[in-house]
Formats: sequence, C-alpha cells, structure tokens
Amino acid sequence: MDPITNPYAPGAGQRPPELAGRDEQLAAFDVVLERVARGRPERSLVLTGLRGVGKTVLLNALRGTAVRKGWGTGKLEARPDQGLRRPLAGALHQAVRELGHRDADSVDHVLGVIKSFAHRDAAAGARLKDQWNPGIDAPAVRGRADSGDIEIDLVELFTDLGGLAADVGKGVAVFIDEMQDLGADDVSALCAACHELSQSGLPVIVVGAGLPHLPAVLSASKSYSERLFRYQRIDRLTREAADRALAAPAAEEDAEFEPDALAAMYDATGGYPYFIQAYGKVVWDLAPRSPITAADVAVGAPEAESELAVGFFGSRYERATPGERDYLMAMAEVAAAADPDGEAVPTADVAAALGKKPQSLSPARDSLLKKGLIYSGERGRIAFTVPHFGRYLRERG
Ligand SMILES: Nc1ncnc2c1ncn2[C@@H]1O[C@H](COP(=O)(O)OP(=O)(O)O)[C@@H](O)[C@H]1O
Ligand SMILES: [Mg+2]
Repeated sequence: MDPITNPYAPGAGQRPPELAGRDEQLAAFDVVLERVARGRPERSLVLTGLRGVGKTVLLNALRGTAVRKGWGTGKLEARPDQGLRRPLAGALHQAVRELGHRDADSVDHVLGVIKSFAHRDAAAGARLKDQWNPGIDAPAVRGRADSGDIEIDLVELFTDLGGLAADVGKGVAVFIDEMQDLGADDVSALCAACHELSQSGLPVIVVGAGLPHLPAVLSASKSYSERLFRYQRIDRLTREAADRALAAPAAEEDAEFEPDALAAMYDATGGYPYFIQAYGKVVWDLAPRSPITAADVAVGAPEAESELAVGFFGSRYERATPGERDYLMAMAEVAAAADPDGEAVPTADVAAALGKKPQSLSPARDSLLKKGLIYSGERGRIAFTVPHFGRYLRERG
C-alpha cells in the first residue's frame, strides 16, 4: 500500500497515530490537575514500565492535558551523572512562560529565583563568566534557592513558583522522563520538596516516568514516597487496545485489517506498543491492498523483526562490552529455562550459569544497570528493561 500515507510511527517518543488503551491514566490525571489547582491534597502520577511500552508518549500526552487547562508545564529527561539544577531550570523557565502571568515584577522575581537556582550548579569557585546561563534575562535573585543544599533550594523554588501559579488560578506541572536516572541526592530532595508542597497546598506537581524499579528507587530514598506518588504501571496493550492502535489509523486512510490479520499482529507483537508500530509500518508498506490479511502479516514479519533487531534491540546490545554481553546471554538462558515470560531472574543463577562467583560479576552487572539494559526491582534479582530481549539474544546466538 502507499508508503506515503503509512500512519504508523515506530521510534522512541514518537507520537502514535492512535494513543490506545491509556484512557484510565488520562482520566486520572484530569482529576489530579483539578484537585491540585484547588489546593486539595493529591498524589502525583508516576508511570513505570519496560522500554517501548509508551511511557514517554503518555507523559507527553499528560503534558498536553495540562497545557490545555492553561497550566505552566516543563519537561526534562534525567541522565545518569547529570545534576538536576540545569535541566530543571530550563523546564521551569518554560513553565513560567506558559503560565502567562501578567505582572512583570512577579514574573521577573520567579525567573530570577530560577536563575540563581541554576547558577548554584557551577562548581565551587567557578568564575562568573563560567557560569551556565539559563537564557533568563531577569537578574538572579540572590539569597533565594541558591544555598547549595538542593533540598532547601527546591522548596524555595517551588514555593515561589507555586505562588505565581496560584495568582492566576492555575498550576505548574514538571514532567521528568527516565526519572530512575536522577542522582540519589536529587531524588531525595525532589521527594522532600513534593512532600512539602503537598502540605502547603501549592499547585505544583512533579509527574515522572521511568523503568519498573523506579518505585524502589524512590522508596529507598524516602520511605514516605509511596504516599506522594500514585504509581501507574504502563504495560503491553490488551488485545482490544492493540487492535484499535492498528485499525483506527488505518480507517483514517480508508484501509482495514482482516480479523485474522489483527490476531496475527497480536501474536507477533505481544501487544507491546513499539512492536505494534514497527509491524504496522512494515506490513502496511508490503501489503498489496486493503484489507490487510494474515498472509500479509506473515510476509512482513521477517522484515519487521530485522528492523527491530537493528533499531530496538541492536542499538542497546551495541552498548554492552563483550563481558557484559556474556552476562546478558547467560541471563537470557536462565530466563528461558525458568519461565520465558517471567521477568526477573536470580543473579545467583546467572553466576552459576557462567560458572563464576557472583562477586566477580558485580562490575558487569553494575555497568549493565547503569546503562539501563537491566534493572533490579528486588534484591538479588535482575530483569531486562527491554521486552523480548532474551528472545532476541537467544535467536542471535
Ligand atoms: N498507547 C499507545 N498506542 C499505540 N502506540 C503507542 C502507544 N504508546 C506508545 N506507542 C508507540 O510505541 C513506541 C514507544 O513509545 P515510547 O513512549 O517511546 O515508549 P517508552 O518511553 O516506554 O520507551 C512509539 O513508537 C509510540 O508511537
Ligand atoms: Mg521513553
């Protein structure tokens, strides 16, 4: 069929033509926004799940909801080894602009606080000209959010920001993607600041997304984090939602899938959003005409798999060193022997499979954790962050 009208969108963070199966999260977020704007106590949302399930696009959709309500919003993606100050300052600068507060002095004050918060990032003793410039024209407000203690500074920053938002009857929502990659101090300060905010009823919320062990990261940092955030596990789509993700965009182009074709698609993709988009893209291009049949899906499958092998699996596999690849392969074998659909495997079993002492494998394991290829939701167990990764490795050999 015509590749020009192909609606599917495989790719990290690519907005899907139809955001299927996420109505519950969108509705829950609506309630959160309304309650927070009215100063009611409310837990914020944190989305967790494997790679490719659609956390980033859902986070973007939630942001869209907030923007439509007139909220100020900003987004950042956490990176390992990067501090929170600069990216957060950038996100909040954006949020202040979106709020559209009319009083220039009030706006300049808050922008000045954001600036001094960001400036504190400079290594101690850095000269003024080496300071990172957040692109804010307003003068820095000395003595506010610049103590150097990130927790104190965040509370001051959010308090001033919340005041500005409350003035216009709106709120500010900060979206943090890959939240598990925040440094330990930043996580702890962020939880403390959210805790403080929820007590003062100020309309500022932090909405996060990250890998499945993110709740464990947050609760290891602050035991009360479970009361701050409502965790929403984002997972593969149900059969119904997966069908809609494929059929609705096709219908827009006056095309359709035969029922057998939809069943074959679900079989192949397991309902994982990234796989649905990848298969949809390839099968559309290869199918001679609408309706798309199960035979078309079978013809497209090898190409879809090889695209995934390069773009989705391979790009991650490439990041592992030879020693780490052995470790991944052993994980895949242990997982297959145990329960192919089970997520986590005991690290002790992986060591046994490699015939090594567990301690000697810690560097490989820690490095894979840091690279985000595996995660550990509970002590002594690890799992792939990428769905079907074990199968990919075993087939690769
Ligand atoms: N609800 C959904 N329905 C259909 N496709 C989706 C959905 N959510 C995500 N996708 C698609 O899945 C892919 C991965 O989405 P992304 O948000 O990058 O996942 P994650 O952030 O969890 O790794 C993208 O191609 C996106 O278009
Ligand atoms: Mg993402």
